[in-house]
Amino acid sequence: MSPCKLQMEQRKGRRLILFPFPLQGHINPMLELANILHFKGFSITIIQTNFNSLNPSTHPQFTFHSISDDLSESEAAEDDLLLLLSHLNTKCSEPFRECLATLLSSLTEEPVACLICDPLFDFTQSVAESLKLPWILLRTSGASSTAVYSAFPLLWEKGYIPKQDSRLEETVTELSPVKVKDLPMIHSSDPERFFKLVRSITYETKDSYGYIFNTFEDLEQDALATIRKKFHIPVFPIGPFHKCVPATTSANSLLSQDRSCISWLNTQAPKSVIYVSFGSIAAINEAQFLEIGWGLANSKQSFLWVVRPGLVQGSEWLEPLPSGFLESLNGMGHIVKWAPQKEVLAHQAVGVFWTHTGWNSTLEGICEGVPMICIPFFADQMVNARYVSDVWKIGLQLEVGIKREEIERAIRRLMMEKEGEEIRDRVSKLKDMANLCLKQGGTSYQSLDDLINHILSLES
Ligand code: UDX
Repeated sequence: MSPCKLQMEQRKGRRLILFPFPLQGHINPMLELANILHFKGFSITIIQTNFNSLNPSTHPQFTFHSISDDLSESEAAEDDLLLLLSHLNTKCSEPFRECLATLLSSLTEEPVACLICDPLFDFTQSVAESLKLPWILLRTSGASSTAVYSAFPLLWEKGYIPKQDSRLEETVTELSPVKVKDLPMIHSSDPERFFKLVRSITYETKDSYGYIFNTFEDLEQDALATIRKKFHIPVFPIGPFHKCVPATTSANSLLSQDRSCISWLNTQAPKSVIYVSFGSIAAINEAQFLEIGWGLANSKQSFLWVVRPGLVQGSEWLEPLPSGFLESLNGMGHIVKWAPQKEVLAHQAVGVFWTHTGWNSTLEGICEGVPMICIPFFADQMVNARYVSDVWKIGLQLEVGIKREEIERAIRRLMMEKEGEEIRDRVSKLKDMANLCLKQGGTSYQSLDDLINHILSLES
């Protein structure tokens, strides 16, 4: 039997249990990973919370189990992200333990090789250990931002954090070109909660059986080397996940995708449209919303804008825009509540991606070779934006916030000036690298093979 067939035989009857953190930017990569491992022959069970749960019928290839999270209506609608995280961690721990224990005792025909979980759940380590189940972490952020998190003890020692206003523009020498203002933070009513989270993630990682990243070696080589050195666990950069196996892009979406934007894009000239989307969590105020609207309108370029309900604080949807705003643009602007983003970025009409640099969006933009305008909001997004603008040099950052003149200027630089052409060339080279690494002999292809062998070697 060929080595490949032998590996496939070994995987048959091996089940993996995956436990996504219930936020869109975490669900997408975990479910994409589930698809990859299923494609490679493993049986997949997904444990999900009732909060932000997926409809199992959209993934008939997986077995789903739901656990009760018991979130009250106000807890589920919590704006303070860290508080929401804390509620989920407190309320899901026991239901998860019970669910996992029941599954392990019932799945005797098909032994469970390991649990794959998200480090934002801080109880998975103790539960897995108590049930003697190996566990591997999926980090849904990039390796560069993870390396910055892992430097937090040093950053404390050197006085970079807590951040002081007078030092925001200073480069962190040890992490150059990252600046003090780029260091990941999540604003909360209780700032100490964030540092606790970073400590717990870092601590848990050290004891896990491995670390999976949705990235590729050529993109984040230095950061991956730092992580390997710091954590002494096997590290598997096997991304970009969404390019590994074909999948229905709408299946993981918590909001329904408005496909009218694809018909609208079909009417636009190649590379003429600015696609604007700030992911699933970021929020802006009314004044910023209007600056974005006028910046786009004044640029005189076509734009497709995702205005998620909840994006503008205190508004249902588009009410703050002056009446007749879109109509006055004579078809040059299209607004939707949620888009099929990967399909949009792959559309030939899209020329620029204005993004909040969430890791999934950043990687999706790179995979389609689209130059970016960056406006990061919180956590890893600031580090990602610095890498986009100053390391990979594939985009521009709005350094002084959301101002209509700055927006107009950034659009012009990217769409009409030589600088924009150079940026387009660089991102298109990264796109080629992203494709190559998944082919036989490529780094992500090899790393996926290593991951599979690693999983097969785990004894629970
Ligand atoms: C969050 C964090 O912000 C991010 O920094 C972290 O790395 C992961 O979790 P989010 O803010 O939602 O995620 O951003 P991002 O990581 O970009 O994920 C958003 C996902 O939603 C992407 O996969 C994107 O394709 C999808 N999306 C977004 C849509 O399908 N349609 C849309 O209209 C907008």
